[in-house]
Amino acid sequence: MKPVWIKHAKELATISGENGPRKGKDMSNLSIIEDGSVWIEDGKIAAVGTTEELEKQYASRANEADIVDATGRLVTPGLVDPHTHIVYGGSREKEFEMRLEGATYMDIMNAGGGIHATSRMTREATEDELVEQASRRLDSFAKHGVTTVEGKSGYGLDLETELKQLRAAKRLNEQHALEIVPTFMGAHAVPREYKGNEDAFVDLVIDEMLPVVAEEKLAVFNDVFCEKDVFTPEQSERILEAGKKHGLTPKIHADEIASYGGAELAAKVGAISAEHLLKASDQGIEDMAKAGVIACLLPATALFLREEAAKGRQMIDSGMAVAISTDCNPGSSPTTSMPLVMNLACISMRMTPAEALVAATINAASAIKVEDRAGSLEVGKQGDVVMWDIGSYQELQYLFGVNHVDKVWKKGQLIVG
Ligand code: NIG
Ligand code: FE
Repeated sequence: MKPVWIKHAKELATISGENGPRKGKDMSNLSIIEDGSVWIEDGKIAAVGTTEELEKQYASRANEADIVDATGRLVTPGLVDPHTHIVYGGSREKEFEMRLEGATYMDIMNAGGGIHATSRMTREATEDELVEQASRRLDSFAKHGVTTVEGKSGYGLDLETELKQLRAAKRLNEQHALEIVPTFMGAHAVPREYKGNEDAFVDLVIDEMLPVVAEEKLAVFNDVFCEKDVFTPEQSERILEAGKKHGLTPKIHADEIASYGGAELAAKVGAISAEHLLKASDQGIEDMAKAGVIACLLPATALFLREEAAKGRQMIDSGMAVAISTDCNPGSSPTTSMPLVMNLACISMRMTPAEALVAATINAASAIKVEDRAGSLEVGKQGDVVMWDIGSYQELQYLFGVNHVDKVWKKGQLIVG
């Protein structure tokens, strides 16, 4: 593979600095280089600096490289989406119409639709079909500047289908340019057949599913939908603590629909991140800030469910690290657009344009433990880079609802543009 030399970027937002989640005020620092340049070699970033600096270092090797003129353009790290349910069967556009006519998300789920509907369709799909459908979604993510995604199971709700989803994610990792970081989410809903017998399903997740997932090394994280009428904080804690014993790091869908103690639980179990948090209590925010939990906020989900967005501004002002994500799933957020999510982070959560970009890069990478290789443009990290057809990070957030991606590289390979 030829080296890639990107030159003369109007703004090169390196997001370099401490290699971990940026908290509070530190979320505003993009470490921008004007007239910036990056040299990518063997899939990794070999040098970052001004074009003048890299000319000195690489002028003699210019003829070996693919040279990209980024004059007038913004260049950023590849975006990271730290929360998706990308592997699933079927589609739920009818439920979208039902919600517009007045049904709520939980009404539909309690009547056997929602996650249960996708669970039926995922159980029916073959592994090949799941791979094929998720692969198209990954293509769409790439077109929107995303180079790494997290991907959850949770539409099986039985061992066989949960494994099918995670094995599909594994195959995608082998055959698609994008990386999927896998999360086990067996406790995404209580299957209809366990209604009234919820603890028996929790036992099944703990005793039958987690050991196999861990044994086959199919997941890095263990997630649970801690929500009124789904899993209680006590059940969620049992599941997350059991996952820890198998080496799986806890994540938690917390306080999405109702304030239910999910944020407090995230702090208690030492979750790497807590997701949604639309209804997180002030105490929960304080606990998470103290425990160093990353708030993974999903403003496209809030919009799609016509709910008020999470208190992103308050969380950052409390010193938390905030990451943002699409939550790509067939029910509450069927989008693959991280640029839209950045726009919404600004519009509906009053995050600044710089904070939104940090939330979609280094903080997102930290929420899925890939900050050693993704999330910033620094020597030694993967050559995951986006060139945008605009000139500044402020424009990226301001010219909203439009895809400004020009070119995308994953590990130094041009995958879009
Ligand atoms: O993160 N809230 C729970 N899980 C997903 C939605 C899944 C679905 O509706 O299919 C979420 O929003
Ligand atoms: Fe989710």
